[in-house]
Order: sequence, then C-alpha cells, then structure tokens
Amino acid sequence: MKILLVSGSLREKSFNTQLMHMAQNALADLAEVRILDWSDLPLFNQDDEKPVLPAVDKCRDAFLWADGVWFFTPEYNQMIPGPLKNMLDWMSRPLDPAAGIRSALTGRYAAISGAAGRMAAQSARSLLARLLTFCQMKVYDEQVGVGATPAEMKTSEFSDPQAIQKDIDHQAKGFVDWIQAQQAA
Ligand SMILES: Cc1cc2nc3c(=O)[nH]c(=O)nc-3n(C[C@H](O)[C@H](O)[C@H](O)COP(=O)(O)O)c2cc1C
Repeated sequence: MKILLVSGSLREKSFNTQLMHMAQNALADLAEVRILDWSDLPLFNQDDEKPVLPAVDKCRDAFLWADGVWFFTPEYNQMIPGPLKNMLDWMSRPLDPAAGIRSALTGRYAAISGAAGRMAAQSARSLLARLLTFCQMKVYDEQVGVGATPAEMKTSEFSDPQAIQKDIDHQAKGFVDWIQAQQAA
C-alpha cells in the first residue's frame, strides 16, 4: 500500500504539516509513505501545459505512484488555500491518452484532515472533498479536523499533540483498511 501525504500549507511552522507528520508516524507500519513536495509549482497557466514542466511532471509521478493520497488542508476565507487549489488544478489536467486514465488524480483514494481556527477547517475540508470527488478521486468519509485556539495560533504549537495523534492514528488505520476493502471488492 502506497500513501502520498500532502500538506496544503507551505508555512514553516504549519499546523497542517504537523498533522501530516503525525500521519507519517501513524502509517509507519501500515504503508509505504511519501511526502509531496509541490512548492516549486508555478501559477497555473494553460499556455504552459506543453511541453510539460519538470515541476508538474514530478508532482504527477508522485500521484501516479500512490494508491491513496492524504490531504491536510488549512482554511483561508472558508475555502481551501489558493496554492493548494493551484496544485490540484495542475494535477487535474488530462494526461497523454496512452496513460489510460484521465488525470493523475483519477481513481485514486483520498483522505482529508485539516487544521485551522475554531471551526477546525470544516468548510475547507468539505469543499476539498467536493473538488476531489469532481476530479474522480474516491474520498474516505472519516475526517479529522483540528481547531487551534488563539494561544496555539500565537506559538504554532498544539497544546495536546498526543490527543490529536490518537485521532490521526484512528484515521490512518481506517483509511488503509478502507482502501484494502475497496481494492479487494
Ligand atoms: C488568508 C487567510 C485566511 C484565513 N481564513 C480563515 C478562515 O476562514 N477560517 C479559519 O478557521 N481560519 C482562517 N485562517 C487562519 C488559518 O486557518 C490558520 O492560520 C492556520 O494555522 C493555517 O494553516 P497552517 O498552520 O497549516 O499554515 C486564515 C488565514 C489566512 C492567512
């Protein structure tokens, strides 16, 4: 089982990147794990699709490698952040027809978690599920949302990381079991 982890934040002390590393721990004995580096993707421009840019190719290869992709999204103005949407727009574009699938997202399994303010990225997580479903990913319905308090926001440190790790452990096991059940069906 191959799982790609994607933090939707490029911020150095990102809460979502912290969640992603908790997932990396949780998956250590359950799956082969890679972390997506998408920080060098340019702003999407249809004029730049051909020839394929190396940064786009690298990202696509990572998605095509994975059985499942686990996203960790912040919430910006009740939506997913623009940079994450930009990356998904690149990934949603058609592959060469010889690849046999529409895009690097098609048919892959997805899980969603998110950390933001009081509402725990509820709106962004729900919009991300809608976007991934539109892009023909199969979305696991158990999510983890974390609402950082103002005090936590100031330090970028969770006050009770063990409690969050427990929720992430549960989601990791559920996601892997769900993918295995789907693949066996
Ligand atoms: C442009 C912008 C808009 C934001 N809008 C929201 C919002 O609508 N809801 C929310 O809970 N937090 C909002 N936040 C706070 C972020 O969710 C918070 O900074 C979070 O820690 C970002 O994720 P990260 O720690 O992974 O970088 C916003 C932050 C920024 C920079």
